[in-house]
Amino acid sequence: MTLPIQIVPSVLPADFARLGEEVADLEAAGVDHIQWDVMDGQFVPNLTFGPDVIASARRHTSLPFEAHLMVYTPDVMAQQYVDAGCSRLIVHAEACTHLHRTLTNISSMGATAAVALNPATPVSAVEHVLDLIDMVLVMTVNPGFGGQGYIATMEPKVTEVRAMLDARGLHDVHVEVDGGISSATVAGAAAAGANVLISGSWLYNHPGGKAAAVTELRQLAQAAQPTG
Ligand code: DX5
Repeated sequence: MTLPIQIVPSVLPADFARLGEEVADLEAAGVDHIQWDVMDGQFVPNLTFGPDVIASARRHTSLPFEAHLMVYTPDVMAQQYVDAGCSRLIVHAEACTHLHRTLTNISSMGATAAVALNPATPVSAVEHVLDLIDMVLVMTVNPGFGGQGYIATMEPKVTEVRAMLDARGLHDVHVEVDGGISSATVAGAAAAGANVLISGSWLYNHPGGKAAAVTELRQLAQAAQPTG
C-alpha cells in the first residue's frame, strides 16, 4: 500500500505581519495541510511561534495544522497547541525523556501524535512507540532554520523507517521529511519512501508562485514514489 503524496509548507518563510493572509494563500495554492515550526531557543537556536500566534491564524483557513515542536519541554505546552487548533503534534525523540508517556498524553488530548528524528538519531529511538503515532518525521536538515542544504544521506533512514512500519503492519503511518525539499531533492525523498514532503524556502521563492511550486513538487514526488 502506497500512501498518497502530501505537500506541506513550512510557514517559517512567511511574512509574520500577515499570517492570516499567508495561510489563506497557502490553502489557495493547494497544499494538503500546514506545518508550524515551533522553536524554543533552547532545543534549537531560534525562537518562533507561541500558541496564540497559531490561534490567530486558525480562523483564516480550514486546512489542518500540525505543530513541529522543536522544544525541550513539549509536555508543558502540548495542550495549548492543541487548543490553538493543531490536530497533530510532532515531538522530537531527543527532547523526550518519557517519549511513550508524551505521545500517549497527546493522544489523550484528542490530537494525533508524531515523532521526529534529528539527522544523527537512529531509527531505533522510535522502534518501541510506533503504535502510538500516525507519522514519523525524518529531518533532512539539522533543525532550527530554513534555507539549509538537503542531507541526502538521510534517504536510507527514510527507507528503514518505512520498512519498519510496514513490517509491523503499520501501512497507514506516514513518513514525513523536512528540510531542503525542492524540485532537485523531492524525487529522492519520495523514492526512499517519504509521502509527506515539507517545503519552506523553495516553495515560497518559486518564480511561478506557490501554486506552481506545489504542483511541481507533487508531480515529481508522485512520479518517484515506489509502486505497491
Ligand atoms: C527547520 C524546519 C523546516 C524548515 C524547512 O528546522 O523544521 O521546516 O523551515 O525549510 P526549508 O524548506 O527552507 O529547508
